[in-house]
Amino acid sequence: MAVDSAPIRVKAMLIAPNEEFDAHAVSLLPPTAENPDGYHRLIGGSVEPGETHEQALRREVEEEIGAQVEELQFLACVESIFTIDGRLGHEIVFLYTGRLDPLPAESGAVLTEGDGSTAPIVWRSFHEQQVPLPLYPSDAVAWVHRLPRNDLGRDAARAETVQAYESNADAYADNAPDLNEPMSTNLDRFASLVGDGRVVEIGSGPGRDALALEARGLTVQRTDITPAFVKRLIDAGYDAKVVDPLRDDLGGPYRGVWANAVLLHLSRPEMAIVLHRLRQVVVDGGVLMCTLKEGAGDGWSRHGSVQAARHFTFWREQQLREVLEAAGWTPIDVQHSPGRKLEEQWLNVMARASS
Ligand SMILES: C[S@@+](CC[C@H](N)C(=O)[O-])C[C@H]1O[C@@H](n2cnc3c(N)ncnc32)[C@H](O)[C@@H]1O
Repeated sequence: MAVDSAPIRVKAMLIAPNEEFDAHAVSLLPPTAENPDGYHRLIGGSVEPGETHEQALRREVEEEIGAQVEELQFLACVESIFTIDGRLGHEIVFLYTGRLDPLPAESGAVLTEGDGSTAPIVWRSFHEQQVPLPLYPSDAVAWVHRLPRNDLGRDAARAETVQAYESNADAYADNAPDLNEPMSTNLDRFASLVGDGRVVEIGSGPGRDALALEARGLTVQRTDITPAFVKRLIDAGYDAKVVDPLRDDLGGPYRGVWANAVLLHLSRPEMAIVLHRLRQVVVDGGVLMCTLKEGAGDGWSRHGSVQAARHFTFWREQQLREVLEAAGWTPIDVQHSPGRKLEEQWLNVMARASS
C-alpha cells in the first residue's frame, strides 16, 4: 500500500458484511516489519478537499472495487495511529457499514489503489479466534462486534439470539467463569437487601448465580427463555421453567428479581415492557438486580463460547434510570464496572420496587 506523506490523513472506510453476516470484506496487505504475515485493512480511502466523508467513501469503493454501497450507515469516527516498516501513520477515520453491490467474489477479488497498485480482497471472519491477521484501523474491531443488522426484523433477531444460546448451551456452560469478587459482592448485597424469601431469576443459563443466591439463604425460581439451558437445569435436579419475560406468565409474588447479563438481549421497547412486567410480580420494596452492557445503540456480537451471532442493546446510565423509573423501579444505584472482554463496560443496577 502507498504510504501518505501528509502528517495526518482523513479517511472514510467501510465494514462490509457478506450475506451470511459472518465475515466482512477487507484488503490483504503484504508483510511489514510490524506485521510479518501481512495485515487486513478496511476498504475505503482518503477524503479529497471539497467532498464529504460519505462522498469519499462511495467514490473510493467505486474506484477501488467497482461496487456501490447500499444501506450505508455511519458508525463512528476513530483515530488510527500505526507504523508501517517503522514509518508513522496517523489517520482520522470516518467508519461506515453498508452492503457492497456487487459483493466481491469468495476468492480472487482484487482492489486497485489510486496509484495502480493492487491488493487481494478477502473475507475476514467475524469470529476473532478465526482471524490470523490484525485489522486496521484497529479500533474498527470493536465496531465489527456490534454491527447493526438491517435485514432482520426484531422477531427474527430475538429468535436468532435465542437459537445462538440453544445450539451453544453446553459450550457456554462448560466455559462459564467462576464467580469473581465484584459479582460475589453483588450477590451479597442483593441477598441482604432482599432479606429472605423467594426470588425469580430471569435467564439462569447454566445456573451458577442461582446456586450462589441459595447459598445466601434465598429460594430461587430458575427460568430461561432458552430450552437447552432449562433442560440442563432440570436434568441436574433443579426446578426450572422456560419463560419468555416479554410474554409468559412470570409467577410470583417474589421478593426480588435477579437478571445477570440477560436484559441486554431486549430491544429498548421490550426492556420497558419487561421491567414493567417484572415490577408487577414483585412485592412493594422488592429488589431488582440486573447487569447490562454500557454504550450507545445496539449490535451483533460473536464472542466467547457462543460462536453464533447474538444481538445486544447497549445502555447509558441516564436512559436506564428513566426506563426503570417509568416501569415502577427506584434505582438504589447504577454502578459502572469493566467487563472481561472487548474492553466492555457494564452497568450494574440495584433497584427497589416503588410503592
Ligand atoms: C449471557 S447469558 C447469561 C446467563 C446467566 N445469567 C449467566 O450469568 O451466565 C444471556 C441469557 O439471556 C437469555 N436470553 C437471550 N435472549 C433473551 C430474551 N430475548 N429474553 C430473555 N432472555 C434472553 C439466554 O437464554 C441466556 O440465558
